[in-house]
Amino acid sequence: MRKVIYPAVGGVDTIRIVEVADPVAGPGEARIRVHRAGINFADLMMRQGLYGSNPDYPFTPGYEAAGEIMDVGEGVEGISPGDRVLAITAFGGYSEQVVLNTKRVISLPDSMSFDQAAAIPVTYGTAFHMLVYLGNLSEGEIVLVHHAAGGVGTAVAQLCKAYGASLVLGTASAPKREFVESLGMRFVDREAEDFVEVCKSKTGGKGVHHAIDPVGGDHVMRSYKALRQGGKLYFFGASSAVKGDKRSILAAFKMWRSTPRFNPLKMMSSNKAVFGVHMGLLDDESVFSGHLENLSDMLLKGQIDPIIDSVWRFEQVAEAQMHIHNRGNRGKVLLDFSPQ
Ligand SMILES: NC(=O)c1ccc[n+]([C@@H]2O[C@H](COP(=O)([O-])OP(=O)(O)OC[C@H]3O[C@@H](n4cnc5c(N)ncnc54)[C@H](OP(=O)(O)O)[C@@H]3O)[C@@H](O)[C@H]2O)c1
Repeated sequence: MRKVIYPAVGGVDTIRIVEVADPVAGPGEARIRVHRAGINFADLMMRQGLYGSNPDYPFTPGYEAAGEIMDVGEGVEGISPGDRVLAITAFGGYSEQVVLNTKRVISLPDSMSFDQAAAIPVTYGTAFHMLVYLGNLSEGEIVLVHHAAGGVGTAVAQLCKAYGASLVLGTASAPKREFVESLGMRFVDREAEDFVEVCKSKTGGKGVHHAIDPVGGDHVMRSYKALRQGGKLYFFGASSAVKGDKRSILAAFKMWRSTPRFNPLKMMSSNKAVFGVHMGLLDDESVFSGHLENLSDMLLKGQIDPIIDSVWRFEQVAEAQMHIHNRGNRGKVLLDFSPQ
């Protein structure tokens, strides 16, 4: 079988596809033929050595994959060859086959496509964790989200609608205005407009209830300023550390240097909260699986439906990642590993 590897830190030109022996399912494990694997922004940062919590090189990226069970190891019950499943691979998903403990394998309802399944865990799981689980998103609230047209951004827009948010302000690059507006958000041009001012002016000077910031650097303090009293900031990424597909130590350093160190005394006086969120480092797996159960119900009820930007054959993985580096995606980008 073939899989994608990152041999070492580098640009998309370093990505390789290698042929390896088929993996074998041990006790308690299942072998899955992957049809779709999700690409996440984190995969790009891992390739640049900017992530911090990935395996040593060489390794195969990929947090999530959807496919069918090929066979199962000793002692496995309740899953059989041919079953359609979602695999929470937490690395290794960019492969034709994966083997993993069945605790990380979830059966798919017949109506859920491989595209939908592979697009849900990281983007919707993270959005749900922030807004619903931590933030108790309630009817009538106002939300600010950055990268509004991306994987997490589009998930946020749909969750906000389902939970009755009254306004979602979404920052993105200028060519995405129409797309962002089509999702019911108030588009904020990330370069031409000051999002803090827009948030204040749209809320009678008060600010938003929730601000979702994956940008890092001094952007984080601006998101904090956009909050009203009682508002919640979710800090969950550092996209400003990335400049193009090659690693920029300067951009990473600037991001690290300018990211605010919050002072609890000042936070107390301003009555605001800051959550740090890293889904890959959640200790309690039941929290994440609870989110996936809720999201699966929401999908079946038609409350969410992942927006797929594009599906690329896995041999085009470099082009697919370049599409994200070039800020071209509107929704989720997937890799196609289905047998041809
Ligand atoms: N902590 C966690 O557990 C967690 C989980 C999931 C995602 N995240 C973070 O959330 C963010 C969104 O993730 P995603 O997978 O949904 O990605 P995504 O939003 O689909 O990422 C691509 C979009 O990000 C925007 N962007 C901002 N800075 C960029 C840069 N330096 N290079 C290229 N694009 C840039 C671009 O849109 P515009 O130009 O329109 O802004 C681009 O189209 C990422 O920062 C990711 O690391 C964190």
